[in-house]
Amino acid sequence: MLTAAATLTALLFHGAAAQSSATAPVALSTEVPSITESTAIASATAASSSQLPSQAPIPPKQAWCPSEIFCAGPLLQTIGVANLFPDDKTFVDKPTSKSSQAILADFQNISQPTYGAIVKFVDSDFTGEGLELEAIPLPNFNPNPPFLNNVTATLPKAFAQTVHGFWTQLIRSTNSSTLCGSSGKCESTLIPLNHTFVVPGGRFREQYYWDSFWIVEGLIQSQLFSVANDTLQNFMDELEIFGFIPNGGRIYYAGEYIDASGDKGILTRALPLAEVTSPFTNKTFTMFRYAVNNTAPRPESYLADYTTVNSVSPALNDTVAESGWDYTTRFFLSPNDGLNSVNVRNTIGIDLNSILYKNHVLMASFYGTANTTSASRHTAAAESLKAAILDLFWDSSKLAFYDFSLTTNSRNNFFSVATFYPYWSGIIPDEVAQNSTAAFSAFSSVNLVLNRYNGTFPTTFITSGQQWDAPNAWPPHQYIVLNALRALPSNITSGAIPTPPSNQSTFALIPSGQLGLAEKALPGQPVQGGATIINATTSGPGADINKGNNTVANGGTAQAGEGWGQALQRQLANRVFTSILCSWQATGGSIPNILPRLPDAELNVTLSTTNNGNMFEKFSNLDVNSAGQGGEYTVQAGFGWTNGVLLWVASNYGSVIDSPICPDLLITPTGSGSGTSSSNGSGSGGTTKSGANATYSTSKSFLAFTVILATLLTRL
Ligand SMILES: *[C@@H]1O[C@H](CO)[C@@H](O)[C@H](O)[C@H]1NC(C)=O
Ligand SMILES: *[C@@H]1O[C@H](CO)[C@@H](O)[C@H](O)[C@H]1NC(C)=O
Ligand SMILES: *[C@@H]1O[C@H](CO)[C@@H](O)[C@H](O)[C@H]1NC(C)=O
Ligand SMILES: *[C@@H]1O[C@H](CO)[C@@H](O)[C@H](O)[C@H]1NC(C)=O
Ligand SMILES: *[C@@H]1O[C@H](CO)[C@@H](O)[C@H](O)[C@H]1NC(C)=O
Ligand SMILES: *[C@@H]1O[C@H](CO)[C@@H](O)[C@H](O)[C@H]1NC(C)=O
Ligand SMILES: *[C@@H]1O[C@H](CO)[C@@H](O)[C@H](O)[C@H]1NC(C)=O
Ligand SMILES: *[C@@H]1O[C@H](CO)[C@@H](O)[C@H](O)[C@H]1NC(C)=O
Ligand SMILES: *[C@@H]1O[C@H](CO)[C@@H](O)[C@H](O)[C@H]1NC(C)=O
Ligand SMILES: *[C@@H]1O[C@H](CO)[C@@H](O)[C@H](O)[C@H]1NC(C)=O
Ligand SMILES: *[C@@H]1O[C@H](CO)[C@@H](O)[C@H](O)[C@H]1NC(C)=O
Ligand SMILES: *[C@@H]1O[C@H](CO)[C@@H](O)[C@H](O)[C@H]1NC(C)=O
Repeated sequence: MLTAAATLTALLFHGAAAQSSATAPVALSTEVPSITESTAIASATAASSSQLPSQAPIPPKQAWCPSEIFCAGPLLQTIGVANLFPDDKTFVDKPTSKSSQAILADFQNISQPTYGAIVKFVDSDFTGEGLELEAIPLPNFNPNPPFLNNVTATLPKAFAQTVHGFWTQLIRSTNSSTLCGSSGKCESTLIPLNHTFVVPGGRFREQYYWDSFWIVEGLIQSQLFSVANDTLQNFMDELEIFGFIPNGGRIYYAGEYIDASGDKGILTRALPLAEVTSPFTNKTFTMFRYAVNNTAPRPESYLADYTTVNSVSPALNDTVAESGWDYTTRFFLSPNDGLNSVNVRNTIGIDLNSILYKNHVLMASFYGTANTTSASRHTAAAESLKAAILDLFWDSSKLAFYDFSLTTNSRNNFFSVATFYPYWSGIIPDEVAQNSTAAFSAFSSVNLVLNRYNGTFPTTFITSGQQWDAPNAWPPHQYIVLNALRALPSNITSGAIPTPPSNQSTFALIPSGQLGLAEKALPGQPVQGGATIINATTSGPGADINKGNNTVANGGTAQAGEGWGQALQRQLANRVFTSILCSWQATGGSIPNILPRLPDAELNVTLSTTNNGNMFEKFSNLDVNSAGQGGEYTVQAGFGWTNGVLLWVASNYGSVIDSPICPDLLITPTGSGSGTSSSNGSGSGGTTKSGANATYSTSKSFLAFTVILATLLTRL
């Protein structure tokens, strides 16, 4: 696995060079990184001579995943229950060392399925994961791209430049000499790509669809246009070959798709439609939802899914769809029933439909006057989706967007960060556009988060242990919230941030019922309570523990003449920087002469004394020193979308980013049920194979971002 440890060794400090700001530049190596792919060795989790546990019936073969070795079937299930690797994805990423027939014959010939026999089989018949991909040099890498001039303060500028340098570690190409191809000599799940690409990092060693959106945003800031172009070329190749873009570059992701090619009428072909008659207006709309058919454990999470499905009662039912949020209380029919009530299939989601709306708008503008027939068709589709989004999702009394449930034929009373997607896509409800008070109310939860919590905007306000719930906050969502604020016209955002009534907190500024929670039900923010760790008070002005003078802690400096829209952006942008930078420093990151390495006594808290800093995929909004928690795999370091969002924030808000104040690791409280500071180099705090966090489902997200990606490229 690639950690930032490898990255930092590539960075050498050069002494002061003249620059317009006082910042000493961080010198970046443009050498081909030497990346050691340490491949995992199977190890028995019981005595070699012990028999494997008895197995549940083999799930049905899935038409979308035909391999007898790497897709659901007797071989994969046997390897799964033998539990040979900490991460189930390891095995399915290992190419075979023999032909498929020879592998299946060897498997059949195992007379006694003991742990020892299975380990021996895997060792002799499979090779190293990740070896089909190779690190390559970055052509024309500019260590000083112009966006760095936008960043004023010394430390944020040096950190942005350091992160810019991380790209050199994440570029891969397919090593054709190691591929099985159609030789029949071996079998592999890798989909070979003909162009270079950026990997997210960690276990995600292939090109990923959804991550690429934010990766490309960052590549554009870094002026790595040819890599951004290559990313899209790979997607276009996949469209030609498969007719859709798999979630990631492996065959086991190929069932998990959305078809998003430009325009063969297939923008929407693979997404199940739902005809929805609005209970509010009786109008009928055609909406999009996730409803992929899968009735077997995911190959890359086989044991986790298998364990869950065979241990919960009643058996999981609606677990066939995927949304990118794996998993969240947002998609539970009833929060208390948890994974037994996953109800994605019957949920019409705000984010998915907003993304498709934006795609239609963009397609209409691509066609423009060159093809008015196609342009009008997309404009009509966009208008229809916009009307539906405002009818089905928008609650004009609570001033927020909510998912629509086909199960209850009403809006879900569940608030999440998805509420900001329509603004990002360009939809501003009239109540907001015409009324600056209402506009602030629609964003008042952002103000609450900045005042009440130490980090960034959480996925939801429910602490469930699922990775797409509180306290986890994800970089892509901070990008969406910032762009939602940017989409508001300035005539409604120019007033000051309102002050809560005396004796109340910023919760009082939120419209009644918007969060669906009483103030005391919000997640607690851990603080020091003398000898013990306590939560901050839940109500009254004291609940806003991060309220400062004209701004919030780690929220930058108030600017003359800024309205509430700009103030919220400045504060959130600073928090994004703070979370990413502080958690990197807390895991051993340093910049010579600018950011000292923390003493071992502090690094010991995060088990990072031998580490050089992690860029995490998610963060805790309670503790800016900490990575996020939960999920089915350990917290990943790398990490493409985090780098991309950091660079985008640096470019767009660099003049108002201050140096973060990172809490001392020795005195940072660790609240129960909240983020901890114990992520080590490879990440920890995840609940790998807990079984509590997995269902039959397809893997990560597959969103229709390709068209939107293409517009990023039009800026080249
Ligand atoms: C940031 O830098 C880029 C490249 O120099 C420039 O095009 C852009 O306008 C700048 N953005 C801001 C917000 O200053
Ligand atoms: C993108 O890549 C394609 C294929 O390699 C190439 O033909 C095209 O010129 C590139 N476009 C840009 C803008 O670099
Ligand atoms: C890569 O190029 C080869 C040779 O032109 C072609 O056969 C193959 O389909 C291409 N792969 C992809 C993913 O486009
Ligand atoms: C929708 O139609 C039903 C049946 O015609 C009617 O009872 C109801 O009042 C209508 N609702 C609205 C919001 O128009
Ligand atoms: C999923 O299965 C249902 C029922 O078998 C079928 O009607 C539907 O077309 C399938 N959907 C997809 C996307 O294959
Ligand atoms: C799954 O749930 C749906 C509705 O929630 C129900 O109609 C169906 O019978 C259930 N299927 C199974 C296999 O339990
Ligand atoms: C407009 O676009 C459609 C879809 O791509 C295409 O079929 C049609 O030929 C185009 N019309 C013109 C005049 O280019
Ligand atoms: C703000 O400007 C928009 C046009 O950009 C206009 O439609 C709207 O009415 C204005 N809002 C207010 C409150 O003046
Ligand atoms: C503006 O919005 C606020 C908050 O929702 C509301 O109280 C007020 O009546 C609205 N003003 C107008 C003119 O609609
Ligand atoms: C703090 O709040 C969380 C809920 O977010 C709760 O689980 C935890 O028990 C609280 N801790 C203390 C010390 O009260
Ligand atoms: C606010 O300003 C006052 C007076 O300058 C100062 O004493 C106080 O510490 C400041 N509070 C914060 C949170 O910065
Ligand atoms: C949150 O921030 C407050 C002050 O800003 C600090 O006292 C507290 O220790 C922080 N809590 C955590 C968990 O980092």
